[in-house]
Amino acid sequence: MTSLFTPFKLRDITFKNRIAVSPMSQYRAIDGHANHWHLVHLGRFAMGGAGLVYAEATAVERDGRRTHGDLGLWDDDQVASLAPIADFIDREGAIPGIQLGHAGRKASERRPWHGETPVDEEDVAKRGEDPWPAIAPSPIPYADGWPLPEEMSEDDIHRVIKSFGDAARRAREAGFKIIEIYAAHGFLVHQFLSPISNKRSDDWGGSTENRMRFALEVAQSVRANWPDPYPLAFRLSATDWLDDGIEVGDTVETARALKEEGVDMIDCSSGGIGGKQRPHRMVIEQGFQTRFANHLREEAEIATMAVGFLWDADVCEEILASGQADMIALARELLDDPNWPLHAAARLGTDENHALWPIEAGWWLMKRERLLKKLGIR
Ligand SMILES: Cc1cc2nc3c(=O)[nH]c(=O)nc-3n(C[C@H](O)[C@H](O)[C@H](O)COP(=O)(O)O)c2cc1C
Repeated sequence: MTSLFTPFKLRDITFKNRIAVSPMSQYRAIDGHANHWHLVHLGRFAMGGAGLVYAEATAVERDGRRTHGDLGLWDDDQVASLAPIADFIDREGAIPGIQLGHAGRKASERRPWHGETPVDEEDVAKRGEDPWPAIAPSPIPYADGWPLPEEMSEDDIHRVIKSFGDAARRAREAGFKIIEIYAAHGFLVHQFLSPISNKRSDDWGGSTENRMRFALEVAQSVRANWPDPYPLAFRLSATDWLDDGIEVGDTVETARALKEEGVDMIDCSSGGIGGKQRPHRMVIEQGFQTRFANHLREEAEIATMAVGFLWDADVCEEILASGQADMIALARELLDDPNWPLHAAARLGTDENHALWPIEAGWWLMKRERLLKKLGIR
């Protein structure tokens, strides 16, 4: 048995293999509601054999959306649009997961293909999309040309923490079985963790312990609304790649503390906090963030997911076989080939007869394969 196709259990949930669909924002929601696009986008990955299918970054409050097209779970009304998606993924044998987040100072942003810059009057004229004010741990804009976010009051902090818990309750009602908190890529939870964006001098800033407090209280709030048998994960930026930013050693401490709050797995990404400095020391190559998964797995003794610029089945197999991570997550490679897990299984010799495919396709592909062999074509 290959490592990629060995089942993995967190709490009472068993993933049939180690392949996760990394959260991928589609910017297609209307007022936070999911639609047929999301069903087909996510459904094809379940049909393609992934063990875990994460729905994209989903806002826990309306103003916490990054763009006008973000999914949301800030309202009970939004549960109904996500429930058939979770149900479909589940019935196709994958575990349905959802990423919950808040954009903080990165709220009110244009979609990538509209420039990834702040929404302004041009968007009102072109698309009828208004800008909205952003909040953040400290009144520091994300980058040059971005609006000044409002510093969060104590009330704001408690309201957002509660909204994570409320969204977790709604995720449960929608039928999801794992939650990932978006604490990476410069979004709100990461903004609290990073000394670049958090300059507070109260209990929520300053020392590593204080900067971690928001993430830990979010974990508590979610855990209080999330069934014990279901796993909870956090996506962290292991490093900011910047002077004076988060280093891997800080992230080990964060991961250890999160584990104490009932967090079961860390999805190990990096970067995104923004600011004036350009990331340095970052060398992009296949699996360039895997070493963070390895480090956190060893040092914080917690399950980890490796992600980032992975596409080769043999490389993914080696990451798991050598114990560098417990799961791997793919994003762009799955956009290119939603059946990547099934193709990887064939390549690694784990599925010779298309037995892992949905029968409606596997039956025919198996027959065609036999014919191709008989005719000596392959
Ligand atoms: C279309 C697209 C949307 C994304 N949206 C999210 C998101 O909602 N949340 C998140 O944590 N990362 C998001 N990412 C980052 C991916 O989850 C992943 O970490 C990154 O693309 C690196 O993996 P890859 O090299 O396999 O694509 C997105 C990436 C893509 C390509």
